[in-house]
Amino acid sequence: MTEPALIGRRKFIRSSVMGAGCFLFSRTPPFAAASPTAADSRIEVLLGEPLGTISPNIYGHFAENLSGVIYDGIWVGENSKVPNLNGIRKELVEEMRKIKAPVLRYPGGCFADSYDWRDGIGPADKRPRRTNFWAQEESASSPANHHYDPNQFGTNEFIRFCKLIGSQPYLAANVRSLPAEAFYQWVEYCNSPAGSTTLADTRASAGYADPFGVRFWGVGNESWGCGGNFTAQEYAVEFRRYTAWVPRYGQELSFIASGPSDEGWDWTRGFLEEIVRKGPRELHSIYGLALHYYAWNLSRGRTKDWNEGKGDALKFDLLDWYELMRQGDVMESLINGHWQVMGEFDKDHSVKLVVDEWGPWYRPGSEATPGDLLEQTPTLRDAVFSGMTLDTFNRHPEKVAMANCAQLINCLNSLYLAHEDNFCVTPVGHVFAMYAAHQGGQALPTIFSAPSVNYDRDGKPASFWGLKGSASLRDKELVLTVVNPHVSEARETEVGIRGGSLKSGTATTLTHSDIHAHNSFADRDLVSPKTRALDFKGRTLIYSFPPASVSKLALTLG
Ligand code: AHR
Repeated sequence: MTEPALIGRRKFIRSSVMGAGCFLFSRTPPFAAASPTAADSRIEVLLGEPLGTISPNIYGHFAENLSGVIYDGIWVGENSKVPNLNGIRKELVEEMRKIKAPVLRYPGGCFADSYDWRDGIGPADKRPRRTNFWAQEESASSPANHHYDPNQFGTNEFIRFCKLIGSQPYLAANVRSLPAEAFYQWVEYCNSPAGSTTLADTRASAGYADPFGVRFWGVGNESWGCGGNFTAQEYAVEFRRYTAWVPRYGQELSFIASGPSDEGWDWTRGFLEEIVRKGPRELHSIYGLALHYYAWNLSRGRTKDWNEGKGDALKFDLLDWYELMRQGDVMESLINGHWQVMGEFDKDHSVKLVVDEWGPWYRPGSEATPGDLLEQTPTLRDAVFSGMTLDTFNRHPEKVAMANCAQLINCLNSLYLAHEDNFCVTPVGHVFAMYAAHQGGQALPTIFSAPSVNYDRDGKPASFWGLKGSASLRDKELVLTVVNPHVSEARETEVGIRGGSLKSGTATTLTHSDIHAHNSFADRDLVSPKTRALDFKGRTLIYSFPPASVSKLALTLG
């Protein structure tokens, strides 16, 4: 990794258009100062024009009852030889505490619309076994609890897990195969005060006298598909019915509507059009509209087939790397596009976006535990993709209220991999640890100027941006996260703060000389972030962002 370099104060003053004691930049043109260094790029953070508060919930997670996510990943059982806290994997809890995980979505995904929450409460040995939604996709050799849900991990265990890791629970209700009454009763089970209802007594008899206080409720999942195959209009009618007169018990309830996938503008439009047909007040029953976006098609336009279009998680070339970056970049246009459509019906934008499933999705073959459905091994490429995605959310604090990476452990873009007593943090997990510092900060506009990545995409010249990221401020602490997508070139970058000066700071960078690098049970720390202090001799910061990297500069303002 190239050492960060700083221009000396005297040199800076000679080259700066301001030349005064404090480090301020002129407005036009933004990068007028001729740099005496070899810097080829520049980042300018604008202190005076905050965009809004970055919701900590943008850093949320998703754990579905799918293959190895719950059983083996989170739940190992109380009698397991794997160190556990009442059945919950201890090492996972310890790691999640480090990343300040704000919110966790459960039990699905598609599983949610097949799940009866009543199966997962009461004495563990009396709970029924049920066919898991995903059973027919599972291989014959996968464990029985992946085919048939033993219901050992239910609402109580999920809430206990949330408490252990300091997360808010986000429960997804079944709209496809349970009546609205079952939804109200789940709310009653979770939130009714001790001693008030029979369900509160049932909760207390399991050791949970105090209400769980669950605020976030998903009303179905992908209701255009596995969640009921509804039209947008049909689903809007169901949404109004499921959310009408749900008992509050003094707990604010935030309902999240099943939203579009990708560029499903028609779903967003059709749903909201039907919602407001009964009057604009109906919008107030919606906290967020869920957007799902998976980056899966690496075929460079050759096919739209769900299986054919996928790439390999571990075996990829430079073109595949850049193709994933291009797919990741689509997120920003989806946020802007759906926000614009939402504005057609919701002029005040009271409904926010909740991106409750996102991440790359590869073809099978890279499972850390062979046979685990939808499990893939994240590499440095996925870390760069994840940094880019989190930066995108940070840049839209007024639009994105929550986001949930799919999925937490033993699945798609997982932060952790585990099997029996093996465990490792993936490069994606490290990115979440680095970016946690943004939570609750004021997002700041940040201008990136860097040479584009230029490459040959199947005989046609293609380009991709050279540096991007996001910045946030809390008191005097500025956090700047930056992605360099170039596979082989570092970006020597001058970092300027408009409206303030820099005093001290550290730089943390996640990279590796091999773009395929990943962590595994045998080599847990191959890809891990390195932190170093920045030496502030002068006032202009030059930092070299290594190729294929995610970096965080934690800077204290003077
Ligand atoms: O995350 C895996 C699946 O992807 C979820 O169950 C579903 O909502 C989505 O299609």
